[in-house]
Amino acid sequence: MKLFEGRTAMVTGAAKNMGKEIALAFARNGANVIVCDYNEEAARETVEEIRALGVEAMLAVCDVRDREKIFAYVAEAVERFGKVDFLVNNAGGSAGLVQKLTRFVEAEPSTLDFVIDTNLKGAMHCTQAVLPSMIARRYGKIINISSIAAICGLYDRVDYAAAKAGLIGMTKALAMEVGEFNICVNSISPGAIARNGKTAEHMTFLGENGHGGTPKDIADTVLFLAYQDYITGENIVVDGGRTLGPGHQKIKK
Ligand SMILES: NC(=O)c1ccc[n+]([C@@H]2O[C@H](COP(=O)([O-])OP(=O)(O)OC[C@H]3O[C@@H](n4cnc5c(N)ncnc54)[C@H](O)[C@@H]3O)[C@@H](O)[C@H]2O)c1
Repeated sequence: MKLFEGRTAMVTGAAKNMGKEIALAFARNGANVIVCDYNEEAARETVEEIRALGVEAMLAVCDVRDREKIFAYVAEAVERFGKVDFLVNNAGGSAGLVQKLTRFVEAEPSTLDFVIDTNLKGAMHCTQAVLPSMIARRYGKIINISSIAAICGLYDRVDYAAAKAGLIGMTKALAMEVGEFNICVNSISPGAIARNGKTAEHMTFLGENGHGGTPKDIADTVLFLAYQDYITGENIVVDGGRTLGPGHQKIKK
């Protein structure tokens, strides 16, 4: 029997890169998967790849900012699979998604709304949509994909760093509220993770070893948190040591 056989996982931003790897990792371990993404074409490909692994996949084409649609898809998933056991709030990104990276002093209010709504409120909508059925069944794992930008900041992404830090706050406060229902809430803060088949070596946040991470590094961490029952309210940094303190510099003798 596979680790997550009979379980259902909902992954947002599951059409590409990290989210796709997380969705496939659940499927390889026997879970049925709800593939949520606004990129319909790529999401359909993920669905096909999941079905080829012998489990069920449900396509949920929508923007995580669209609360009504999210609630409708979750209702459909509960109807179809009887439950959602795992929610991974992975959909997100900086103002770079809309070519609006800039110093904070110049950031437009509409860009601030876009970044906060996508990264923080989107995760809140998805979480509120799955929670009632998790509470009723007294089982659930919610995993939020934050960023080390929340921990050490990142130029031209003040809104993004704030939204990702908000996710960590949400993780801790919600973990307190839902612990009594056997629901664990955790977050993961990745460093530079490869996307679109390229390595992450051109990115800002490389690890101590000089290289970036892969979507599999994050998917493995998600699976670990989905499996665990005694870790909650935690933020796991997966960055190859990038956010270690200044003590990493070699001391001259
Ligand atoms: N790649 C990195 O180095 C890195 C580092 C730290 C944190 N993160 C975070 O990890 C997550 C995934 O990163 P990635 O590099 O795989 O991103 P990506 O841009 O490669 O893929 C994101 C996926 O989410 C979908 N998506 C984006 N906004 C959406 C929305 N509003 N509604 C529905 N779907 C949406 C996209 O269509 C895409 O399929 C993001 O939250 C990102 O902020 C990434």
